[in-house]
Amino acid sequence: MSTTISAAASGQFKIGDITVNRLGFGAMRITGEGIWGEPKDPAEARATLRRLPELDINFIDTADSYGPFVSEDLIREVLYPYEGMLIATKAGLTRHGPAIWRPLGRPEYLRQCVLMSLRRLGLEQIDLWQLHRIDPAVPQEEQFECIAEMQKEGLIRHVGLSEVSVEEIEAAQQHFPVVTVQNLYNLVNRGSEDVLDFCEKQGIGFIPWYPLAAGDLAKPGSVLDGVAKKLNASPSQVALAWILKRSPVMLPIPGTGKVKHLEENVAAASLTLSDEDFAALDEQGRAAAAA
Ligand SMILES: NC(=O)c1ccc[n+]([C@@H]2O[C@H](COP(=O)([O-])OP(=O)(O)OC[C@H]3O[C@@H](n4cnc5c(N)ncnc54)[C@H](OP(=O)(O)O)[C@@H]3O)[C@@H](O)[C@H]2O)c1
Repeated sequence: MSTTISAAASGQFKIGDITVNRLGFGAMRITGEGIWGEPKDPAEARATLRRLPELDINFIDTADSYGPFVSEDLIREVLYPYEGMLIATKAGLTRHGPAIWRPLGRPEYLRQCVLMSLRRLGLEQIDLWQLHRIDPAVPQEEQFECIAEMQKEGLIRHVGLSEVSVEEIEAAQQHFPVVTVQNLYNLVNRGSEDVLDFCEKQGIGFIPWYPLAAGDLAKPGSVLDGVAKKLNASPSQVALAWILKRSPVMLPIPGTGKVKHLEENVAAASLTLSDEDFAALDEQGRAAAAA
């Protein structure tokens, strides 16, 4: 593996008209337990954010519901005016306590969320705004139409979706161009293969959340051990290298509140897996997923 740590080594992808390095950062882990309140170690969380531009990370994923508000506020405090960075945020989930998330997609709520994220982040336009969940209790068209209106008004530059099926992406495309889809995906969780294949065909960015299976794939004892040992890499690095090789539209956003973990994860951008190692991991990952 190269000794230079740079997210640029992961390659680039165009989100709409904005080019980013494919390996990004998930800013959910810079909050408290249950993604509620302030982080346990605020100085370390701030240091992690400060390190991002030094490692050439220029794509950050957050949401108004992370904290709530804590993640967006910290990003603004540490990184404003975000020179050369795309700050992607999401809304459509309400918070009623630690680890409690409930969808709310009423148009007036989504509009308030966008306006409040703009204010917190200090922006006039959100480069990538993602609907965190489609609210099953509100007609889809109402949610999509309100998003299309906000895009027309210029509050949102590009629109992404999260946790959606191919049919839902196609329904949304009747209202606005879908530039990214953020679904749960990692080596051992392959439930969104069809969505990933669809995104690849259409050139839509696919943002796999839980790329490290919430940390489980960073621990020893997973299907990654053999290849990690052989390549003198950590399991989390192999997990990320596998994801990056899986598809050119893949935009992983590993989450951490620790500088050391961030550096380790970004170093994965320079880790190249052979086709044999990729295929062996693919097979073991599918088997683990099926089990
Ligand atoms: N769209 C959605 O519904 C949705 C849902 C969940 C998450 N997300 C987004 O996806 C991002 C990624 O998901 P995630 O953060 O939940 O899961 P993840 O990236 O799979 O794993 C993060 C966990 O792994 C640990 N970790 C990270 N790097 C490590 C390393 N090198 N060695 C050991 N442990 C490591 C972190 O702990 P430390 O902090 O201790 O490093 C954290 O607990 C989030 O930050 C968020 O932006 C989206």
